[in-house]
Amino acid sequence: MSEAIFSKAKEMKEEILAQLVSNEQELESFRIQYLGTKNQIKPLFAEMRNISNERKKEFGQLLNDLKQTAEHKFEELKGSVSGSANEGQAADLDLTAPPGEIVLGSRHPVSIVLNRFIKIFTKIGFTVVEDREVEDDWHNFTAMNTPEDHPARDMQDTFYLKDSTTDLLRTHTSSVQARVMTSQKPPIRIIAPGRVYRNETISARSHCQFHQVEGLYVDENVSFADMKQTLDYFAKEMYGPETKIRLRPSFFPFTEPSAEMDVWLGTETENARKLTKGTGWLEVLGCGMVDPNVLENCGIDSKKYSGFAFGIGIERSAMQKYGISDIRMIFENDIRFISQFKSEI
Ligand code: PHE
Repeated sequence: MSEAIFSKAKEMKEEILAQLVSNEQELESFRIQYLGTKNQIKPLFAEMRNISNERKKEFGQLLNDLKQTAEHKFEELKGSVSGSANEGQAADLDLTAPPGEIVLGSRHPVSIVLNRFIKIFTKIGFTVVEDREVEDDWHNFTAMNTPEDHPARDMQDTFYLKDSTTDLLRTHTSSVQARVMTSQKPPIRIIAPGRVYRNETISARSHCQFHQVEGLYVDENVSFADMKQTLDYFAKEMYGPETKIRLRPSFFPFTEPSAEMDVWLGTETENARKLTKGTGWLEVLGCGMVDPNVLENCGIDSKKYSGFAFGIGIERSAMQKYGISDIRMIFENDIRFISQFKSEI
């Protein structure tokens, strides 16, 4: 009697080892058959009471071995089923199919316009300098002829650093003028691009952070005519060879005289009328002759040297160039928006 049960257990082991499955369904029936709550190994344990005491240990080991064999086999079969699923996928792969479209990245509109400015000015001998965004009020205001309590400080609402009355986020790139003039001797011919910050309510037309490009030219005998010539060249390069400019008197504490430059877009196209509010003239930048006080503040002899400076808003230029109506779109970085602009460089 016990011999028959021994051989039944051994046969079952052979049976388990010989099992093959080809899909999840067959794997599941293997599990139910050998590992489920009503599996085929269980009844053999019940036979234990029919086994003689001397052979109980041997039979117990045989059943444990059977159980383990079933468990190992299940893991093995599981591997073969998921393996064959992968093989199925590999077989579906068509290695001769043409590859999908390769999508190239695109430049951000702010970078495109900035690169254009840099190209235009480096062509006539300006070099590019960059300096810090966290400034002190001397470089941002005092050196730029805007002493404390000067009403012009109100023109640009300033972010001061926490617990500081001197350290601030620069409100304009004109602070780089002070950085350059205190560390270099004329002739100076630089443009300084960078990010600036103003404590302004964010709206379609203004943002608390944006970019400017500062220009500065200091040498002996630099005149207002030199500035006008340089800006006329810039406008023709930027907006086309037929472009006309006009300079309107304005005020900045650090330039005297100061001006605002407009370019003529005309009133013929709908877009031109919209951008110029019907006047035909588009306001492009602020400029002027460097105030002698600024030169002196920075240790440059204002009797020997003179200069001109200008400042252009990059977002504003990009909005004008591409007809973007809301400055916030430039900072949202929605890929559907920023990938539309084609760069020339
Ligand atoms: N810093 C001025 C501004 O932010 C622009 C400017 C620069 C004007 C240089 C004149 C000369 O509005």
